[in-house]
Amino acid sequence: MKCSIISASLRVCESMQGSRAQKHVFLYCEPIVLTAYLRFLRYLRHDSKRIFIDLKVLGMGATIIVGGFFGDEGKGKIVAHVAFADKPAIIARGGIGPNAGHTIEVGRRKFGVRMIPSGFVYPDARLLIGAGVLVDPRVLLSEAGLLKVTERVGVDYRCAIIETKHIETDKLDPYLSQTIGSTGTGCGPAAADRAKRTTAQAREVAELSPFLTDAAAEVNKALEAGKNVILEGSQGFGISLFYGTFPYVTSKDTTASQIAADIGVGPTRITETIVVFKTFPTRVGAGPFDTQMSEDDAKKLNIEEFGTVTGRQRRIGWWDPTMAKYSAMVNGATQVAITGLDKLDPSVKGANQYDELSAKVKTFLREAETVVGVPFTLLSTGPELTEIVDLREEKLERA
Ligand code: GTP
Ligand code: IMP
Ligand code: MG
Repeated sequence: MKCSIISASLRVCESMQGSRAQKHVFLYCEPIVLTAYLRFLRYLRHDSKRIFIDLKVLGMGATIIVGGFFGDEGKGKIVAHVAFADKPAIIARGGIGPNAGHTIEVGRRKFGVRMIPSGFVYPDARLLIGAGVLVDPRVLLSEAGLLKVTERVGVDYRCAIIETKHIETDKLDPYLSQTIGSTGTGCGPAAADRAKRTTAQAREVAELSPFLTDAAAEVNKALEAGKNVILEGSQGFGISLFYGTFPYVTSKDTTASQIAADIGVGPTRITETIVVFKTFPTRVGAGPFDTQMSEDDAKKLNIEEFGTVTGRQRRIGWWDPTMAKYSAMVNGATQVAITGLDKLDPSVKGANQYDELSAKVKTFLREAETVVGVPFTLLSTGPELTEIVDLREEKLERA
């Protein structure tokens, strides 16, 4: 008999022989599960004749990381940190396509990626692109070569392909390029063609043949074996096709459920959903932005930003607790990561410990956490990979 670590809790058969001292526990499971059991014995929970191991505490399973505002919250930085901390076997990317631009700073090196998962900086993970993602082969091949990750990349054979005609339409169509303010990367038109079932699939593109895989099968197999997997989202809640400020949105949903579906992972296999917010939300392109501040205010605060893909100036806003709460709800957040604490108070730049944060930042965090109702576990204090306070162990254990 074999237990799978994928199930939300692991059932351990036990035989109770009278007193506690005589208790024998039999584990019917794979060696990796047994190792986990021994390591984390203290997290056992008894329930009559069964014992459960809380897999959340073990930190195993699939973690989804998504954007909670209008995109560009700093998911790239958070994914990279979580990757180094949790050592996933696979980092798989969901989301729309190369309209996303993730920035990762490691030491003095700064990378901007559009197709390769931003966790690529962690060298031991396989890097997969889920079936739901639109692939521009030119962008993918160029990034894989530049970053020297060709050996680690896999593209689901069912990904839909962005062609030159999609990019031209995206740039020339006045509705998309001007009214919506699209990124001009061909994503909207390719998504429309995919819905019409006229796009090519990755398996039909010769240049992609060395990368082709069944990403869903790879990820589920890794989960089955008790390995960690990160599922990386792109864009943000406010530009979701379903939940965002329609019609000023991108061409697909951007919530955690969509990211899981993009990669082919069922909802029962997700152990953590981390929603990323930034202290000062930003928005690029057209569309309502309730908490937008004036350009003058942004200049005074020295918090101006420019897009990774288009170079456009991002509109900057004040923290939006109402949106944060709603977004955490629809995403089913189990944790929140917050970036830009150094923008709120430059004195905390580079802090790694909660005690190093200022009273101003602590008050902000306390109030925001109370409103959102989800533990703020990852506190980013600068763009560089190591500029972060990671409270996951402490806060999740306590929860
Ligand atoms: P999309 O997938 O396109 O939505 O992007 P993203 O969420 O990966 O964010 P992106 O990299 O486009 O933008 C975030 C910007 O904030 C980048 O320039 C990061 O380097 C920067 N950043 C991330 N965390 C922090 C932080 O804690 N402080 C500061 N000052 N900048 C940060
Ligand atoms: P599209 O996704 O290129 O069609 O653009 C539609 C809208 O979504 C525009 O307002 C874009 O600026 C915005 N958008 C698309 N991708 C991103 C992203 O990764 N970050 C921020 N905004 C994005
Ligand atoms: Mg971005």
